[in-house]
Amino acid sequence: MSKEEINLPPIAGPFVQSLRSIGYSLDAAVADLVDNSISAKCHEVHIRALWRNSKPMLWMSDDGEGMSPDELASAMQLGAVGPDAVRDKKDLGRFGLGLKTASFSQCKTLHVISRDSDQVEWCGLTWDLDFVAKTNKWSVLKLNTNDIESLISDLDFSPNVGTHVIWEEFDQAVDATALNGEKDFNNNLAHLKDHLAITFHRFIRPRSELDRIKIFFNGSEVKPRDPFAEFPISDKDPSSVVEEDEIRLMADAGETRVKIKSYVLPHPSLVSSEYKTRINGEGTDYYSGQGIYIYRAGRLISYGSWLRIVRNAETNKLARIQIDFENDADGLWQIDVKKSRVNLPSSLKSKIREVIKRTTKKSSRTFNRRAQMSSFDSSPIWQRVYDKDNKAVAYKLNHENDLVNALIAGLNDEQKVLMKLVEKTIPVELIKNDIAANELTSEREVGDEVIMIVEKLMQCGFDKDVIKETLLGDSNLGLKKEMVDKLLKDMV
Ligand SMILES: Nc1ncnc2c1ncn2[C@@H]1O[C@H](COP(=O)(O)OP(=O)(O)OP(=O)(O)O)[C@@H](O)[C@H]1O
Ligand SMILES: [Mg+2]
Repeated sequence: MSKEEINLPPIAGPFVQSLRSIGYSLDAAVADLVDNSISAKCHEVHIRALWRNSKPMLWMSDDGEGMSPDELASAMQLGAVGPDAVRDKKDLGRFGLGLKTASFSQCKTLHVISRDSDQVEWCGLTWDLDFVAKTNKWSVLKLNTNDIESLISDLDFSPNVGTHVIWEEFDQAVDATALNGEKDFNNNLAHLKDHLAITFHRFIRPRSELDRIKIFFNGSEVKPRDPFAEFPISDKDPSSVVEEDEIRLMADAGETRVKIKSYVLPHPSLVSSEYKTRINGEGTDYYSGQGIYIYRAGRLISYGSWLRIVRNAETNKLARIQIDFENDADGLWQIDVKKSRVNLPSSLKSKIREVIKRTTKKSSRTFNRRAQMSSFDSSPIWQRVYDKDNKAVAYKLNHENDLVNALIAGLNDEQKVLMKLVEKTIPVELIKNDIAANELTSEREVGDEVIMIVEKLMQCGFDKDVIKETLLGDSNLGLKKEMVDKLLKDMV
């Protein structure tokens, strides 16, 4: 039975307004544009974001393959290429929407100017959302040579072929409630730069297994943020790879591969503070990046959580798991338009749970081994004691140490109870946080406090060798033998 058709095309004005609220952050929107440049086989991407005439602006230029006028028109059309189209393995696109949806989410005027190697001149088109709202037409505006010239004349990157994306009326760059728009904009840009550093870290790192590109942000090259500490600085330890595996799954287009690689980061005392920043970014602690990192065709999609497979825990904090899937399995992973979220296929969950278990076991061993080292020292003041029955770790004063022994012997019963209280209330969590956040070094100078302690101990009649053994025996003091020898020599 044939049915009457009623044609209900979207109404352009309200529809594009709604599209603006699809939920992109500035970071995700710019990353979507970089995806396009990478898919167009660029070598360099230059992003310029400026506060100009009391307004924010953003330009993005690449030296990729560029587009002919027809290709540009198709690129500007919403959904000209659907999600079912077969794509090149290295293509980071899927929905035929990103350029438009990402840009509309941030600005009301989008200019795209492009040229491929067959064209003599640049061509350019503009989406002006105020014009769309006024006319209710799905129409872009064609840029003439003068418009193009004036839009790209002051760009500091001018490739022979490639694409320039320009955002004007960039009204989402600043929080409407911000007291100082320019400051808010600059804060957002700092975050954006860091987001690009991690999202594309495998494309921008020197020893890339992918086609290497360079991203420049306001003139300076974006350095990769490598969450796995795979390439540490000079003499520092790299992270250890616990295991690598490849799993085959059935996707809509046939068999697809998922690669899993798990790492345990080096203990924080083994990496420099510079490297900690390169792993986790400015102002975050060394452990905050535990979890699963999911990549699609080498580009990071989601990170920083265990995806509810296991909990964030002390024992997991050095563990990171890298999962790679290819762009032929987008349906299986339920990737979203913004490329910022995926659903782990349920057939993978139990496998990944096993990998996490093995990796976190190694992560906690790395920690405990370092912590235990102090108990192998000759005569530390503190001892780490593991209570097997209660599966708990405690820190206690070491009665074998001559100084501790002498102190305890001189205490009355009440004072001994107080001493027990001190032992029981060591703020272990706070100390751990401080070490992670403040980059406390394990090697220190001999401070005034240490000199005062040594003086007092000598006055009390303690043997020089006992004092020396104690100072060196406790790695928490972080003193070198030469320093202690010199100190004791100076004081005798
Ligand atoms: N910088 C660029 N260089 C060359 N071609 C581009 C560029 N940006 C976009 N295009 C072309 O425009 C098309 C549409 O881009 P758009 O980002 O809207 O969708 P997509 O990348 O195909 O898919 P997705 O919605 O997943 O991003 C691309 O498929 C590509 O052909
Ligand atoms: Mg795209």
